[in-house]
Amino acid sequence: MLSLLQARRSIRRYTQQRPDQDVIDTLKEAVLRSPSSRGLNPWEFVFVDQPDLLAQLASAKPHGSAFLQQAALGVVVCGDERQTDVWVEDCSIASIILQLAAHAIGLGTCWIQIRNRTHNDTTSAEQYVQRLLHLPEYLRVESIISIGYPDEQKEPHPTSSLEYGKIHLNQY
Ligand SMILES: Cc1cc2nc3c(=O)[nH]c(=O)nc-3n(C[C@H](O)[C@H](O)[C@H](O)COP(=O)(O)O)c2cc1C
Repeated sequence: MLSLLQARRSIRRYTQQRPDQDVIDTLKEAVLRSPSSRGLNPWEFVFVDQPDLLAQLASAKPHGSAFLQQAALGVVVCGDERQTDVWVEDCSIASIILQLAAHAIGLGTCWIQIRNRTHNDTTSAEQYVQRLLHLPEYLRVESIISIGYPDEQKEPHPTSSLEYGKIHLNQY
């Protein structure tokens, strides 16, 4: 597990290779094994593999989402706000679990923030995604995780860059 965390980086360039069905199945199992508050599992995951839909999702924000167009898969992570007031936490945990599971099997991923981001002057990124995917308003959109086989190599963050000063013993 630690070696996975040591090597993990955000990957935004992907090859043309499509993941096999067993790879997709592994990712589905991983997200569904995420912990959630009170075990409510308030989430819904939209696995998007249609290139035209990925291209439209890539325009969800003016910055920081364009690379989704090249990805083999985008997983839209949504939470049902009617079920819990901590859907943000639950969806964030599911998002990172998905990223780590994908990295563990040789895929590259990047988190695309949707919640609290804007599409344009009149529409939030969340509304844009909700309309595109026919999501009801109560299904809030936290993130899109872009996934594909890496077409870029990134060095791990060196141990010397870790901010150990942010860790405190017993009191701040
Ligand atoms: C909550 C969150 C939101 C993020 N949103 C975006 C995003 O919208 N677009 C993007 O390209 N990267 C996004 N990232 C990736 C970060 O930019 C990246 O994790 C950070 O720069 C550290 O780089 P690393 O993941 O390679 O260690 C996000 C990461 C997190 C945790």
